[in-house]
Amino acid sequence: MKKVSFLVFAMVASLLLVMTGCGKDKEVSTTGKEEESNGKTLRIVTDANYAPFEYLEGDKIVGFDVDFINAVAKEAGYEVKLESVGWDPIFVEIEGKRADVAISAITVNDERKQSYDFSVPYFLSTNKILVPEDSDIKSGDELKGNVIAVQTGTTGQEAVEKLLGKNHKDIKKFENNNLAIQELLKGGASAVVADNTVVEEYVKNNPDQKLKVVEDSKSFNEEFYGLMFPKGSELKSEFDKAVNAIYENGKYAEIYKEWFGTDPDIETLKA
Ligand code: ARG
Repeated sequence: MKKVSFLVFAMVASLLLVMTGCGKDKEVSTTGKEEESNGKTLRIVTDANYAPFEYLEGDKIVGFDVDFINAVAKEAGYEVKLESVGWDPIFVEIEGKRADVAISAITVNDERKQSYDFSVPYFLSTNKILVPEDSDIKSGDELKGNVIAVQTGTTGQEAVEKLLGKNHKDIKKFENNNLAIQELLKGGASAVVADNTVVEEYVKNNPDQKLKVVEDSKSFNEEFYGLMFPKGSELKSEFDKAVNAIYENGKYAEIYKEWFGTDPDIETLKA
């Protein structure tokens, strides 16, 4: 008898809890107002081999993109489950709608826009050349006649193909950018072409490797990163709104400053 009345009590109590809304997730947003997370967890995919945007610290994925997507998702009222699946699989997962969002320093370009939807831009980038300190390579044109390492399926590969020719034998392609850099370090390539922030950060953090970065705004275009969604995803407009909100409320600048030590040029991103 005692057991039964406790059970009734517990049922009534939990019913009351649900009715008063105490069971819901509540979050205090960056704007200070109380927001209710709608509780939905999004599966977000990345390739965590691209410091400082996404990389592994132990088994934790960290980086600018990680802090950025967490802030944007929170603003939009979603929970995040971030998974590193590798670069090529990102596109397969999004195309097959098995993931909701991809973030991986992904450049928005016309070719990708045919198959995927992208958010408003959140980062400005360009390809640059990573070479040994004593290299004679001073421009994109001078990559000709050298073996160049790139990450497969990136705008870096595309840029080098434009200079050397598609499927040129001197272009060595790797599954991730760290492998391309390893190839350069062991002398199997004369240069790596990848996003400026990534190669600049690598040089800064590895002074003993004696590398330098060569820029060439004639050979390499400006690019913008975007969040990538399955075509037709309803999340795009929600996330666009959330990105703009963290531009306005200072959260983006805070994260940017934490990673890069300077203030972001938000006007360029919004233009
Ligand atoms: N921004 C370049 C592109 O979209 C390279 C991105 C590579 N990102 C990565 N996490 N490996 O093609």
